[in-house]
Amino acid sequence: MSTVYDIGVLPGDGIGEEVVNEALKVLDAVQSVYGFETKREAMPYGAEHYLATGETMPDAAFDRIRDMHAVLFGAIGDPRIEVGKLEFAIIAGMRHKLDLYVNLRPVKLYDESLCPLKGKTPADIDILFCRENTEDAYAGIHGTTKKGSPNEIALQQMVYTRRGTERIIRYAFELAKKRGPKPGKDKAQVTLIDKANAVRAQDIWTRVFAEVASEYPDIDTDHAYIDAACMWLIKNPEWFDVGVTTNLFGDIITDLGAMLIGGMGIAASGNIHPGQVSMFEGIHGSAPKYKGLDKASPLATILSMSLMLDHIGQAEAAKEVEATVSDLIQTGRIKSMKAGVHKCSELGSMVRDALLERAAARS
Ligand code: IPM
Ligand code: MN
Repeated sequence: MSTVYDIGVLPGDGIGEEVVNEALKVLDAVQSVYGFETKREAMPYGAEHYLATGETMPDAAFDRIRDMHAVLFGAIGDPRIEVGKLEFAIIAGMRHKLDLYVNLRPVKLYDESLCPLKGKTPADIDILFCRENTEDAYAGIHGTTKKGSPNEIALQQMVYTRRGTERIIRYAFELAKKRGPKPGKDKAQVTLIDKANAVRAQDIWTRVFAEVASEYPDIDTDHAYIDAACMWLIKNPEWFDVGVTTNLFGDIITDLGAMLIGGMGIAASGNIHPGQVSMFEGIHGSAPKYKGLDKASPLATILSMSLMLDHIGQAEAAKEVEATVSDLIQTGRIKSMKAGVHKCSELGSMVRDALLERAAARS
């Protein structure tokens, strides 16, 4: 009997449904080639469900997910609903309640034509950002007093625990060790990105990074403050290998990174707790203006699905999905991830068909 994985499918809002459907098309193909199965459970949470029932995401849904291998997620965000309500309940809900402490965000250029920087090639841009995913300004500790008055005060706490800081930094070093040096380098490298010169609480990152680094003599280290890191990412993206950073800075720098590789339509992510159920999503939002128009790129979700396959133990299948996408881009069959250049359904079908053709050619 082949292995069966339990996968929660949570399309969410806006373009979520269409991009997830395309990723499932590719999943159908890749599991047929690699001989495993997935049992998929649809999860209805998002704006429509909230408007119909008043429920965001119930505890029972998190309990279900705890028994699964992974969740494939589309996007959340709807203009009819109070800003942050569903994002906090569903996206942050999964990150926090399932303790998905790693937000792995690869920034990898598949073809020079997708990069707006002059002269940068795929050899220059292949970065693995490890964004801490449960603390910092996202810890949910905030408040306002004297609201609406001239004396109003608004506060939000940036929280860093020893445990939370150490585990993401350790993950980054382990990832660098597993990946090994980039071509032409002797050692893999981890760059700490923080703002400890201004946010003095981030001194904990400085100290924990130094401690963990001392356990990995074969890995080079580097450091950049977030403002400078944004500059270097544009000027010399080849300086980055594995990057580790706080939740908020990781959110921001990976949108910048996405722009170097083709845009939000190709930037993938994994919300990971190693060895436990984890959640995979494109880093883009729900893009309500494109909902139902068959215009949005599903490649970010397809590549997130590839990260999901790697997480559940199907590393070869994961690599094949990525290689298929990369090949379609390098051979010019996929020209752009910009909305409307290709149809959403066309891109999903192209990846599925190419994957099946590659398998047929090998056998
Ligand atoms: C992301 C998103 C979320 C975040 C939002 C929707 C809360 O921007 O996943 O990058 O800030 O983490
Ligand atoms: Mn973001």
